[in-house]
Amino acid sequence: MKNRFQPARRRVLQGAAGAAALGALPRFAFAQNAPVKIGLILPMTGPFASTGRQITAACRLYMAQHGDSVAGRKVELIIRDDTGLAPETTKRIAQEMVVQDKVTVLAGFGLTPLAFAAAPVATEAKVPMIVMAAGTQVIPQRSPFIVRSGFTLPQNTAPVALWASQNNLKRVFTLVTDYAPGLDSEKTFLTRFKEAGGTIVESVRTPLRNPDYAPFLQRAKDSKADALFVFVPSGEGLALMKQFDERGLKQAGMRIIGPGDVVDDDILVSIGAPAVSVITSMHYSAAHDSPENKTYVAAMMKANPGMRPNFHSVGGFDGMHLIYEAVKKAPGGTGEQLVNAMKGMKWTSPRGPMSIDPATRDVVQTVYLRETRMVNGEPWNIEFAKFENVGPGGQI
Ligand code: DHB
Repeated sequence: MKNRFQPARRRVLQGAAGAAALGALPRFAFAQNAPVKIGLILPMTGPFASTGRQITAACRLYMAQHGDSVAGRKVELIIRDDTGLAPETTKRIAQEMVVQDKVTVLAGFGLTPLAFAAAPVATEAKVPMIVMAAGTQVIPQRSPFIVRSGFTLPQNTAPVALWASQNNLKRVFTLVTDYAPGLDSEKTFLTRFKEAGGTIVESVRTPLRNPDYAPFLQRAKDSKADALFVFVPSGEGLALMKQFDERGLKQAGMRIIGPGDVVDDDILVSIGAPAVSVITSMHYSAAHDSPENKTYVAAMMKANPGMRPNFHSVGGFDGMHLIYEAVKKAPGGTGEQLVNAMKGMKWTSPRGPMSIDPATRDVVQTVYLRETRMVNGEPWNIEFAKFENVGPGGQI
């Protein structure tokens, strides 16, 4: 049986090679008409559901504004909930999307351990993987198919370390969530702040699951440090800021500083007055003053009443931009060609100017210093300084 079929198969292959030589590629033509299937894997339920809600809303807005087809191909969003907690679930969903749905691109990834879990699937399937949320610096090194549209923690930590050292904060207590992005942020702050002459009073790490910040905040208060440096992932800032307020740390004269995740725009109105005077560095504020951002915020709030877009949302919006533009540049292209098309791409996002570093496939962008202030009765992160073209390692 086997032998009987071999000559026929060889003929088919020769036929395809002949067609390729003539420039008429049947497979290529098929891919050019096939839909662009985007497999979005995000926490849509559980403690990190706001990340999924924000990113899906932004991806849908991008499609509403740019059309549901690109380069003649229909764009399909396939959204799956990984609940944000179990890496093996994310990996299984990524495998199903590749094998059953035959996605063109994998995207989303709300937390670093989930991005790590999916990376080998992208490598094996040769499918681009757009990391829209997770922020640990090493992530793109886990697969040559990863491109990041969000941010890194070193990028968003370095500017506030410099600000602290230049603004009379001499003794700082650090608190970070005990997983990869927390450690990235802690390391960046400790290195940069100490280099600039600052003193670290104590460094504590809180669990990712069911954290109770109270005992750590009491220790911070007892330390009489000038400031508390905080990194917690998006959504956690609400509990942390409430306890900071209830324990009277602000009244005791302690400032909060850190990357902007703790005063995330999604929860900032719920935090309310305790957020005022927090100083953070971040790549995105809903208050960013540009025509692109005014259009973006108005459209997001119109489509999603009561939801202020946060920094994760722009990771989704810009991730969609990367996918659309790559499909235009490499129509019908393979995963490798799509990733190559994304390398070096440059554009103006609602966050400001950004690009993809071709060497690391990571995001290069402006990072802003902001102070949380009340404007017309609502807290907003108001930008007051900026660092341009900050790379993933946070060199400023
Ligand atoms: C990560 C997740 C977040 O929600 C965030 O704000 C920062 C980092 C992460 O898991 O990488």
